[in-house]
Amino acid sequence: GKDGYRHYMEKELHEHPVVIGQTLQRIIDPVTRAINLPEFPFDVADVPRAIVTACGSAFYAGLVARYWLEAEARLPVDIDVASELRYRDPPLVPGGLALMISQSGETADTLAALRALRQRGQHIVSILNVEASTMGRESDVVLGMVAGPEISVASTKAFTAQLSVLAVLTIAIGQARKTITEKRAGDMLAALLDLPSRAAEVFSRLSDIQSMAASVAEARDVLYLGRGVCFPVALEGALKLKEISYIHAEAYAAGEMKHGPISLIDRDVPIVVIAPSTILFDKTLSNIQEAKARGGRIMAFTDEKGAQRLSGIAEHMVILPDVDPFVAPILYTIPVQILAYEVALRRGTDVDQPRNLAKSVTVE
Ligand code: BG6
Repeated sequence: GKDGYRHYMEKELHEHPVVIGQTLQRIIDPVTRAINLPEFPFDVADVPRAIVTACGSAFYAGLVARYWLEAEARLPVDIDVASELRYRDPPLVPGGLALMISQSGETADTLAALRALRQRGQHIVSILNVEASTMGRESDVVLGMVAGPEISVASTKAFTAQLSVLAVLTIAIGQARKTITEKRAGDMLAALLDLPSRAAEVFSRLSDIQSMAASVAEARDVLYLGRGVCFPVALEGALKLKEISYIHAEAYAAGEMKHGPISLIDRDVPIVVIAPSTILFDKTLSNIQEAKARGGRIMAFTDEKGAQRLSGIAEHMVILPDVDPFVAPILYTIPVQILAYEVALRRGTDVDQPRNLAKSVTVE
């Protein structure tokens, strides 16, 4: 049941902290903090490169993983949505790592890509919520999320669970490839293990998210901006808003805005910015100022330090707990998904069963 929540989506949003915690507990020893992944039938230190594929929200989790695997594990990564990858026929060196990401393990496009990648000699590692699924059976390694059943069509907790698994996998590959020092690995694991508490704090910002939602709910179009690992969070936010509120939304890498979508900006287009104070903050801020100068109404997700810089610029702010920039995409996803939910409530849509969408799409 919905446990007293109005929608499954609301219930599942509240499960983020617990699901992140459970997913991490399964693969990190709470005492020694050693990574405890299932046995791989190949050596991850030897893979020449990774190819990542998925659909929908799961694809955006893959986009975050690309930033992580490249920057932290120094592993070259190719990524595409499954329906394109399947027919692109990219040249692949046998022995590569294929990362498949799927909540259901049954999405037809992702499954077809899995089979094509297997035929091309890739090691198939799948990140799945439903482990007893077709993709589960056809993978060399299954990395389970511990998200529990996700009923709402729009993915919520499965997304942060996917990111939690991918973060740990990044550390494990980085350690195997000796690109991450023991000290750095310890800091990254500590930041992850701290996440359930930080995620729980997000819910104390609900009234700020609701005021932001009241503004966004009146818009016809919304622009989402982010840089680096927060660009996929912007993509996820825009997708969620489209899916459940039917408001047109687009996400752009913040630096790319001036190369096109800036022409759309006026008083009627809210600009939702994902802007934790990382090394990219100053660049994002100058993109925000460009938008502001053209009448754009800025809605910012940031932290205390970022908020000081954004005061007088942002019309609405949601101030989030300070976290290691490595885990920021996991934390920031939560309020961004809550925003979409709160907007959908104000638009009176069928939140759990949005029109034309299915939980698991089993046709290509
Ligand atoms: C969809 C859902 O069409 O399938 C999305 O509406 C989901 O929410 C996507 O992200 C992929 O599903 P799965 O099960 O492969 O993660």
